[in-house]
Amino acid sequence: MKNFSFEIDNIKKFLNEEELNSESQLVLNSFDTLMSQKGEGNDFLGWLNLPVDYDKSEFDRIKKAAARIRSNSNVLLSVGIGGSYLGAKCCVELFKKYFGNSDLEVIFVGNQISSTYLHELLAYLKDKEYSINVISKSGTTTEPAIAFRVLKAALEEKYGKEEAKNRIYATTDKARGALKTLSDAEGYETFVVPDNVGGRFSVLTAVGLLPIACAEIDIDAIMKGAQDARSIYQVRDTNNDAVKYAAIRNALYNKGYDVELLVNYEPRLTYFAEWWKQLFGESEGKDHKGIYPSSVSFSTDLHSLGQMIQDGKRHFFETVINVETPEFDLNIPFDEDNLDGLNYLTGHTMDYVNKQAMEGTTIAHTNGGTPNMRINLSEVSPYNFGYIVYFFEFACALSAYTLKVNPFNQPGVEEYKKNMFALLNKPGYEELRKELLAKK
Ligand code: PA5
Repeated sequence: MKNFSFEIDNIKKFLNEEELNSESQLVLNSFDTLMSQKGEGNDFLGWLNLPVDYDKSEFDRIKKAAARIRSNSNVLLSVGIGGSYLGAKCCVELFKKYFGNSDLEVIFVGNQISSTYLHELLAYLKDKEYSINVISKSGTTTEPAIAFRVLKAALEEKYGKEEAKNRIYATTDKARGALKTLSDAEGYETFVVPDNVGGRFSVLTAVGLLPIACAEIDIDAIMKGAQDARSIYQVRDTNNDAVKYAAIRNALYNKGYDVELLVNYEPRLTYFAEWWKQLFGESEGKDHKGIYPSSVSFSTDLHSLGQMIQDGKRHFFETVINVETPEFDLNIPFDEDNLDGLNYLTGHTMDYVNKQAMEGTTIAHTNGGTPNMRINLSEVSPYNFGYIVYFFEFACALSAYTLKVNPFNQPGVEEYKKNMFALLNKPGYEELRKELLAKK
């Protein structure tokens, strides 16, 4: 069985061969732009060869730090937001058990400003041994900075200042920024967010890999998957699945399909979609353009959003991630009374039912006017995680260049921050504060 395949048969009803071919040629131009490293944002292309060009000695330090954290902690607090959060979060969610904690729980914090969340976390930590991995490239992002300030004080109170220093690991800029300055002053072990890798492309750096390794997920296998994907997708060919995916997305967008739903039939993929949404949303949503990346978990959401997808405004298309082999399967039992009428399923497994739900839904949505693509993943494994991460990163860069936007900046993210700072009376924002208050 192949570890990854891309099915596009259900697109043919919506895009003819000519449309697809001409869009593929445009994507090949984007491929040249990307690989020549001459396009916009070309100082953020470190992710492109990261699967082979990563810092091997830091990689070893990550493993050692993870072993140390696992030996002295029940909880790792991973403090970060956006690109400094979603990669690790989605990977940990992919591999953790649905029920029951493993011996080290990774808790993500600093990814919102909920005082209730932090209050309850502090109470939960009272009888736990814990360490902190604070992750921020800039070192000044408000959400993680507030959480870290609070958690650092709690850690120091519990262990004393000296021992607390051994339990704080900072992932930040190699030379600059508030967090780097603090780490150097306090003597925290530090890991690097490379200059040329933006947040949403950073899961295969220490940003993602330290929390992932702490959750005992095989980071060697993740890198191997990404390496293999790199060799496959860095080939200039219209049969390259990353080229096809970028071409189909753009061709559909040009026909008015401007909402993409990443669909899963396995709940542990829910956070993978959150990572994917940031990757595509922050890379493409610019200059008043872009496909809105959204997600659904089926069959759950078929009972809430299914109606809208089947029959609402025709602007959705779906990219289904099909996990071919589940980690566990279950036989449907025979029941003497058969009051629920399910005996016709006896002899089948639950995954068989899940797959028929997927086939039935694909046919219904396609017939209803929602174009469908499918990515088949042989299983949820660290290797496949590394592989699909690289696939989407590469396809995203191609897709954004084809849309004629810079895939690697995020100017719009600053707008809310300026207003928030002004309303918080941060020094330097006095004029904007006056303007905003006058409008109230
Ligand atoms: O992709 C991005 O650049 C953002 O999502 C950032 O990762 C996020 O804002 C966090 O930034 P920082 O790591 O500087 O705290």
